[in-house]
Amino acid sequence: MESKVLEVIRKRRSIRAYRPDPIPDELLSIVLEAARLAPSARNDQPWHFIVVKDKSIREAMVEACRGQSFVAEAPVIIVGCADLRIARSHIGGFMDSYPVDLAIAFDHLMLVAAELGLGTCWIGAFNENKVKEILRLPKCVRPVGITPLGFPAESPQMPPRRSLDEVTSLNFYSNPLKLKTSDRR
Ligand SMILES: Cc1cc2nc3c(=O)[nH]c(=O)nc-3n(C[C@H](O)[C@H](O)[C@H](O)COP(=O)(O)O)c2cc1C
Repeated sequence: MESKVLEVIRKRRSIRAYRPDPIPDELLSIVLEAARLAPSARNDQPWHFIVVKDKSIREAMVEACRGQSFVAEAPVIIVGCADLRIARSHIGGFMDSYPVDLAIAFDHLMLVAAELGLGTCWIGAFNENKVKEILRLPKCVRPVGITPLGFPAESPQMPPRRSLDEVTSLNFYSNPLKLKTSDRR
């Protein structure tokens, strides 16, 4: 048995080379819809997505992303931000949930983009203050994730993943989970 979602999960890669072709608004709206519908703690939905199309702003974002020049190669950059006025939930009573909420939304976005033949690459190496300045974010809005979005100009292999045995346990920590039909690809 195969899952269609798993198929897309396998297909998605971090793309670091893009064609300049514009993205039709219809596709853009589908990937943003995937993010909008993501689950979040207490259904806070603390996100705001900035779609950067302007070339000079995209180029300024390269410096803010520690010189990762492929970021501006794509016709669009999406910046996933958390609005701290909305993000009030905590996980386990101590950990902010907004980075998790944003990560889920961004993952939704990246998977649907991959399904539509669009490339993305989560950019975590950025200077928060520079991004805030370029995008004119208010104090209470923090950038959490950045991704270029465009048609891929490369098709990289999947980097190695740790095995299922290595990353799972049964009932308690480090007790092997032996599945009869596990997918160990
Ligand atoms: C939180 C996070 C931050 C990342 N930051 C960067 C980054 O700044 N630059 C980059 O090229 N890739 C970045 N990546 C992409 C990872 O390198 C990539 O997901 C990983 O190597 C696995 O490759 P894959 O996405 O093709 O499966 C980041 C990924 C995550 C989840």
